Amino acid sequence: MSYFSIEGGRSLYGEVKISPAKNSVLPLMCSAILVGELFIENCPKIGDVLVMCEILNKIGGTVKWQDGGLYINTENVHSTVLPEEETKKIRASFFLVGAMLKRFGTVTVTKPGGCNIGSRGLDIHIDGLKSLGAKVLETENEYIFSAERLQGRTFNLRYPSVGATENLIMASVTALGETILKNCAKEPEVKDLCDFLNLCGGKIYGAGTNTLRIQGVKKLKGKVSYLPLPDRIEAGTFLLLFMLVGGEGEISFVGKKNIYLLMKKILDNACNKDGFCVNIYREKIYICANGFPEGLGKIVTSPYPGVPTDLHPLISAYASSAKGITTIEENVFDCRFAYLDGLKKFGAKFTKKGNVVTFNGTKLHGAEVYAPDLRGGAGLVLVGLKAEGKSKVFNGDVIMRGYDDFAVKLQKIGANIKFAKE
Ligand code: EPU
Repeated sequence: MSYFSIEGGRSLYGEVKISPAKNSVLPLMCSAILVGELFIENCPKIGDVLVMCEILNKIGGTVKWQDGGLYINTENVHSTVLPEEETKKIRASFFLVGAMLKRFGTVTVTKPGGCNIGSRGLDIHIDGLKSLGAKVLETENEYIFSAERLQGRTFNLRYPSVGATENLIMASVTALGETILKNCAKEPEVKDLCDFLNLCGGKIYGAGTNTLRIQGVKKLKGKVSYLPLPDRIEAGTFLLLFMLVGGEGEISFVGKKNIYLLMKKILDNACNKDGFCVNIYREKIYICANGFPEGLGKIVTSPYPGVPTDLHPLISAYASSAKGITTIEENVFDCRFAYLDGLKKFGAKFTKKGNVVTFNGTKLHGAEVYAPDLRGGAGLVLVGLKAEGKSKVFNGDVIMRGYDDFAVKLQKIGANIKFAKE
């Protein structure tokens, strides 16, 4: 079992460089099926990306870590059956369906396994692909998609699902005619995918808005080198960490517009006090936190541009010892609260009713806890860094699925933390 061992209670000082966003990199890797060759600059070597590498490898693609990034070539992909074991591990494997279907006319994909943060339906992906002309055969364990051709249509997503929007963009960018996607996800990572595909010759209009007009082109050109946008969830994680444990830091390579709401909440509620300052200049956040962190009032998660659900457990980590009340209402996933068991062991005081958890910040002590999922686990690490004494966060691998060099970045700013496997 892997774990983080932590000695908490230290203030942190120094610079943290944010990596490109996991949730941009994964769909970009899927789009390599359409563009043939692609180089992802400064690609984070995180667990989910390594699993996607394995999937591309197993179906005949070439994947190489070189020159500080990830080179992908899918020209020799020969299998249209996605490997079961890896496909089950990451939800993003399903985002390959649109591109595979367009390129090969068929794809077989194992049903993604259960998920720790919610039910995570696929109905919008499937209905959208059907509207473009796909046929779907569902067996006990898998979906088999086929399409003689994909024809542009108008499709209204009943919920702005990030993955379904991305899947449909990839299915339609080289489909026949025009596709109009309404009620799309507006997350910056979706826009990043559109920007990349447009760079390769795609004709996607309205990127970053809730309506996309996609004029199918015959072919996309590959051999493009691309730097994905910064990871806004990683940036938010480090911002909350500095606020929580105190100290002074600089967080660089930040898409500042993309974490604006979190920044605003912090500036309005927690940071207008003596001893705190947060400044944003160019792509950097400067932060000094030499006072007592205060509660954030009410936080409601929702699709972009709302507060991201992926920051919910990190905000809880902050709230568990920030003076006063913070209430978090979770509106995207139906069971994102598994991390609360761990927080209780640290001594956190909270009440939970339905999808709302209310924290009354208190002094925390070290504990041994289990990371239930990626963001919940990262939240527990933050609490371990705040709590006086020794802590262990087990199942550390789940955190390494999404945080690049997490322990190393923390050590560089003075945290007493180690990642180990036994
Ligand atoms: N949903 C459906 N039917 C569908 C698709 C989604 O009911 O066909 C529901 C889901 O069950 C969920 C909600 O819609 O309740 C949102 O799901 P969405 O499809 O938007 O999420 P996703 O595409 O599976 C991506 C990120 C997640 C992030 C969500 C929401 C990637 C690889 N993953 O997932 O990232 O939480 O969008 O912003 O892009 C993470 O990084 O920790 C993470 C979980």
